[in-house]
Amino acid sequence: MHLLIPAAGMGRRMGADRNKVLLTVRGRPLIAWTLLAAEAAQRITWIGLIGQPVDQALLLEIFDSLGLTTPVHFIAGGDTRQASVYNGLQALPEEATRVLIHDGARCLISPDLFDRCAAALENCSGLIAAVPVKDTIKQVDRDLKIENTPDRRCLWAAQTPQGFDVALLKSCHSKGQQLQWMVTDDAALFENCGLPVQVIPGEETNVKVTTPSDLAIAEWILSQRSH
Ligand code: CTP
Ligand code: MG
Repeated sequence: MHLLIPAAGMGRRMGADRNKVLLTVRGRPLIAWTLLAAEAAQRITWIGLIGQPVDQALLLEIFDSLGLTTPVHFIAGGDTRQASVYNGLQALPEEATRVLIHDGARCLISPDLFDRCAAALENCSGLIAAVPVKDTIKQVDRDLKIENTPDRRCLWAAQTPQGFDVALLKSCHSKGQQLQWMVTDDAALFENCGLPVQVIPGEETNVKVTTPSDLAIAEWILSQRSH
C-alpha cells in the first residue's frame, strides 16, 4: 500500500521557531516517530513524505538516519494541506490504485492502525480512522450562544489515516479546486462529491500534535511505551 505523509505545514499553533514535525520528542524529531510506525506496518510498501522545500535537506537527513527499508520519496508541499496532498497524489507511481494519507503530526499512531486501514481499503474506496467523541459538543454562533447540541452517539472525531481510491480522490480534488471548497481533510472532499466514506475505529492516543501541551502528551505516551 502506498502512503502519503503530509508534513509541509508551518505549525503555527505550536508557536515554535520551526515546523513542529522537526521538533524533538523523546529524543527524535517528531516526524521520525511517524516514519518508524509506517516502517513497522507490514502493509506499507512505499512512502511519499510531503514537506516544505526549505525543510527538504533536514527531512532527507532524518529518514536517512533511520535506516528505513521502505522507500521514502520527498514531495514538495503546497500552501494548504489540501494543496500538499494534491501534490502528493500527482507524485504517486502509476501502479498506486489506492492510497493512505496520514498526518506527519500524528506521530503516536501504531503500526497496527496503518495495517488495519490498509486491509480495509482493499474492500472500499474511501475510509477514515475516527474515535467516538467523549465531550458533549455544542454548536455555537458568533455571539457565543449555543445553537444546538448534536446527539453525541452520532459524533466521531476524525483522525488519519484516511484512505481512498486514487482516481476518485484525484477527481474530488479537481472538483474541489474548481469550486473552491475549503476543507480540512480528504474525507470532506469525498463527502462533498457524494461518495461513501467508511469509518474505521482509530486510537485514542493517535492525537494530532498541534499545541505545546500535545507535545508534552506525546512525550509522556512515548516514554510509557519504551518501558
Ligand atoms: N500540512 C501540509 N501542508 C500544509 C499544511 C499542513 O502538509 N500546507 C500537514 C502538517 O504538516 C500536518 C498535517 O498537514 O502534518 C495536519 O495539519 P496541521 O496539524 O494543521 O499542521 P500545521 O498546518 O503545520 O499547523 P498549524 O495549522 O498550527 O499551522
Ligand atoms: Mg494547519
